[in-house]
Amino acid sequence: MKKFYITTPIYYVNSYPHIGHSYTTLACDIVSRYKKSRGVPVHFLTGTDEHGINIEKAAQAAGVSPKEWADKVAAAYKDLWKNLNIEYDDFIRTTDRRHEGTVQAVFEILLAKGDIYLGHYSGMYCNSCETYMDETEAPGFVCPIHKKPLNEVKEETYFFKLSKYQDALLKFYENNPDFLSPSFRGTEISNFVKSGLKDLSVTRTKVAWGIPVLSNPAHTVYVWFDALINYVSAAGLGAKICKDKAFFEMENKKAGVKNFEDVWPADVHLIGKEIYRFHAVIWPAMLMALGVPLPKKVFAHGWWTVEGEKMSKTLGNIVDPKKVADEYGLDPLRFFLFREVPFGADGDFSMDAFIRRYNADLANDLGNLLSRTLNMAAKYGDLPAGDYKCELLEKAYKLDKEIERHMDALALDKALEAVWSLIGNMNRYIDDKKPWALAKTDEAAAKTVITDLIYTLRRVTDWVTPFMPATGAEMKKRLSPGPVQKYAPLFPRLEIKK
Ligand code: MSP
Repeated sequence: MKKFYITTPIYYVNSYPHIGHSYTTLACDIVSRYKKSRGVPVHFLTGTDEHGINIEKAAQAAGVSPKEWADKVAAAYKDLWKNLNIEYDDFIRTTDRRHEGTVQAVFEILLAKGDIYLGHYSGMYCNSCETYMDETEAPGFVCPIHKKPLNEVKEETYFFKLSKYQDALLKFYENNPDFLSPSFRGTEISNFVKSGLKDLSVTRTKVAWGIPVLSNPAHTVYVWFDALINYVSAAGLGAKICKDKAFFEMENKKAGVKNFEDVWPADVHLIGKEIYRFHAVIWPAMLMALGVPLPKKVFAHGWWTVEGEKMSKTLGNIVDPKKVADEYGLDPLRFFLFREVPFGADGDFSMDAFIRRYNADLANDLGNLLSRTLNMAAKYGDLPAGDYKCELLEKAYKLDKEIERHMDALALDKALEAVWSLIGNMNRYIDDKKPWALAKTDEAAAKTVITDLIYTLRRVTDWVTPFMPATGAEMKKRLSPGPVQKYAPLFPRLEIKK
């Protein structure tokens, strides 16, 4: 059976992870857990992007080799994912031999096919930045960082024939309306492609820290061409196209991949909006050239700012998700990020908003519902087991379909909104029925109200779990058939610190 294959971008190891990187990886974790809970086999890939001049520089500044530096930061990513309770199936590093070998093989295939060709690139170059800049990046051809004039440089480079795929891409977008997601991002991409695609320089002779081209090792592969291939190298393409088949088969086995076709094509590449063109234009063109099926969906979410500002080292406003989780709990953080902002749009992180959300949705709505229900249930003996039918539960079954639609569309905020609207209804149900008063005249009717709530809360638990796994497990425990225990509140109220 084909697995549901979901990926995060592979993150650069030039600096340490923050809330922005965590956002994408958490979203994939939530979708992956949801799918798994529905019995769908899932393959969830994340990893690190480790080549290129910026990483070479970061290593130099730290006085270590690029590989040593990459090892350290990749380990920090793995650590953070563990702390955020992220259950990925595979972690790829672009310095893995399984990846490097696949990139080299892909390059030679496209070269033989004529989709990669040798040429010259000329442009204005900043020697200190070691990058080409055009006039929009460097007005007057003076480097805005080093304030030095740029030099005209002509360099031998291999090009990928991106222009050849312009029409095929447009046709693909048209025939696959779900590919560019959310749909509002589609127009910009189609217009960009329609405006004309230029062939892409895909090797460098000046960057040593990269994957050498097999047939011409004076060139290393351009980081983006290298990085995008991670999605297929992790899915096991190497075993199909590389010479050392046995090695790649072994690597696939370690990664939990039997055949490339069991995993590929990806169902969702989840990324931030700033790297959408790479994923929506260059990547599908590369796959077309290779003759490999295209991913089903490329979804770009928005960007988080912090108290209205872009996160940056200089501003010192980088949010460390581990710190927030340690202070306020991991699940509230996981919840907040996806409840606060429509998934796809930009968002602003502030501790005030976090605490407001926590108190309203978690302490009041969900936490109170659970404790009120269990406190009342304690009067009627053990929590019930077996089949049950009631109106509230019927509503929950209908809602289940709606939530599934939202989750499939990656409208994570809408899925949570739907769950919380039911939680609101359940709290109102208690307020209307007043089981504590009802018990005085009709004990059986009061008990029925509580039973309705217990059964429906068990459904709520299933929906809450992918977003807040520890909370879900705790709810499941508290609501399982048997005697009712005394419990501390799930989410004690927080005070806004001034
Ligand atoms: N290495 C490339 C991706 C290659 S994928 C084949 C890269 N790496 S990155 O480290 O810069 O990570 C970028 C990604 O991190 C974004 O696409 C997004 O998923 C996430 N985010 C980083 N900062 C973010 C915010 N401030 N807000 C939301 N997400 C952001 O680009």
